[in-house]
Amino acid sequence: MQTDISMPASIQGNTSAYMDWLQMLSGAALIVFMWCHMLLVASVNLGAGVFDALAAFLEYTYMAQIGGPLIGVVFLVHFVLAIRKIPVTSTQQKGMWNQARMLRHKDTWLWIVQAVSAMVILIMAGVHLWTVLTDLPITSVKSATRIQEGGWMWFYLILLPMAELHVGIGFYRIGVKWGFVGRSGRKNFQKLEYAITGGFILIGLITLLTFAGISI
Ligand code: HEM
Repeated sequence: MQTDISMPASIQGNTSAYMDWLQMLSGAALIVFMWCHMLLVASVNLGAGVFDALAAFLEYTYMAQIGGPLIGVVFLVHFVLAIRKIPVTSTQQKGMWNQARMLRHKDTWLWIVQAVSAMVILIMAGVHLWTVLTDLPITSVKSATRIQEGGWMWFYLILLPMAELHVGIGFYRIGVKWGFVGRSGRKNFQKLEYAITGGFILIGLITLLTFAGISI
């Protein structure tokens, strides 16, 4: 005789709802982190001394040493929760692709961009986190050397749009999915998302050019 040891549907439903909440909260934390991170890195545009002073402050207060690995953990939690919803087998991916083409629905396409960028970020941001955090202290000269001589310019030229698209679409989806933005406000909210994403990519590109110009 076979016994059914699966969880009752109500418990499964609750667990799934909690996981959805945690996914949203970890995503929101990462969005705020990424906006702060891009602005902190962009401080180099105000002068290498400003960047170095901010980096020294983050290390003096242990925000880099403790906050860095903590971000790594939030990043992993967010990934583990999100992978539940991402089609991983080729049959699932084909089905998703066909449906998106059939529906011609913008939000479905945005979701596909988010799933693809997630995979790129998982690998590239992991490498980036490891490289920066195992080579403290952060200094403008070290960062500039990486970008000018270590081939990191190409690396960041891929990671930057991927991270910003993922963050921008995530911001939009949180607003829509959790009801912070109603149907009538959706168009304007999407414009705001495009402006934020475009703005951060532009700031990021200017920052990379500044690093490329720093004398090492
Ligand atoms: C606490 C964790 C992190 C620290 C301390 C950190 C630190 C830095 C530093 C110092 C730079 C300057 C370039 C360099 O030194 O190589 C940089 C650039 C960059 N980081 Fe991070 N990072 C962190 C997490 C992340 C994450 C999670 C992402 C993406 C999801 C990311 C994406 C980028 C990108 C795209 C650039 C290029 C910046 C630009 O174009 O202006 N970083 N980061």
